[in-house]
Amino acid sequence: MLLLTIETTCDETAAAVLRDDMSVMGAVVASQEELHERFSGVVPEIAARAHLERIIPVIDETLRRAGVKLDELDAVAVANTPGLAGSLLVGLVAAKTLCLATGKPLVAVNHLHGHIYACRMAAGRQIFPCVGLIVSGGHSNLYRCDSPVDFHYLGGTIDDAAGEAFDKVAAMLGLGYPGGPAIAKAALKGDAAAFRFPRSFIHEPSRLAFSFSGLKTAVRYAIAGPGKPRPEAGELSQQLVADLAASFQAAVVDSLVDKAFRAVESTGLRTLCVGGGVAANQLLRSRLAEEADARDVELHIAPLDLCTDNAVMGAVAFERLKAGLVENLDLDAQPGLVRA
Ligand code: KG4
Ligand code: ZN
Repeated sequence: MLLLTIETTCDETAAAVLRDDMSVMGAVVASQEELHERFSGVVPEIAARAHLERIIPVIDETLRRAGVKLDELDAVAVANTPGLAGSLLVGLVAAKTLCLATGKPLVAVNHLHGHIYACRMAAGRQIFPCVGLIVSGGHSNLYRCDSPVDFHYLGGTIDDAAGEAFDKVAAMLGLGYPGGPAIAKAALKGDAAAFRFPRSFIHEPSRLAFSFSGLKTAVRYAIAGPGKPRPEAGELSQQLVADLAASFQAAVVDSLVDKAFRAVESTGLRTLCVGGGVAANQLLRSRLAEEADARDVELHIAPLDLCTDNAVMGAVAFERLKAGLVENLDLDAQPGLVRA
């Protein structure tokens, strides 16, 4: 079976042609980083317009690389939730149009399920049931994943997502966008114990929740106290920036690791799968690995090229197809996170 998958939930325009043995025939990701860089974050309206310009060339190039023609496809899959409304609509309308023109079935992909399915792609075998931790620019959530199509929300952030906090703190430190890789790089030369930043809910073991907004404020106040104007980025010494980056990164990682293994304990499951852009963070990856080892938990972290947004993880659509979950052409975009 051959599947075309389309992903436009945020600021990556991506498509892939996948075979049901999980091989990737062709895949393209057109990033928009350069368009959003000067705003230190994704501007939804700019993202939607850029998707509109790129979606057809990206699909064309993907089919060309795969050496596959539209009529050879068995289905078209598209991420229709969650994400930015305008961005989602571009991919969704493209997918529906292809289905209307070719008569192929339409499959809906939940972007968050895709982030966890990236672990299954890398593992080369089934990984369910598992606890899923999704850490990205838009989400920091824990799920009990009974199967690839059956996710139950266990808890998540009550304010900022982890990636969002990385991006905002990087902007405060003058480190550029996207903030995650920039903070990780600066942190290499910093002392993670220089500042003791808050680890939210760490003293409430039974509460599966994250909060990164107060942490962000704590970094702001470490730069200049309450009521004081923030110095220009260039005015901070390189060592101070490195220490702030390292201390901030350590606080985020501590929170994520603690709650991920609390979720493993509370569900009684023995497998933890981690995906999303922040899962590319090396400190997070090594701390998760240490902790999993110590607790004898099977750990899968998405490979680096499948952490940030891509269409390969849309392979989860094969699972929906197998389960008979095909959509009508009135399928809508669902921007918000739907919690059970
Ligand atoms: O999954 P993703 O590509 O998009 C969303 O679905 O949101 O995640 C993007 C996020 C950005 O906030 C970026 O700063 C963060 O992932 N990120 C990282 C790293 N690489 C990307 N955060 C921490 N460390 C990294 N190495
Ligand atoms: Zn994502």
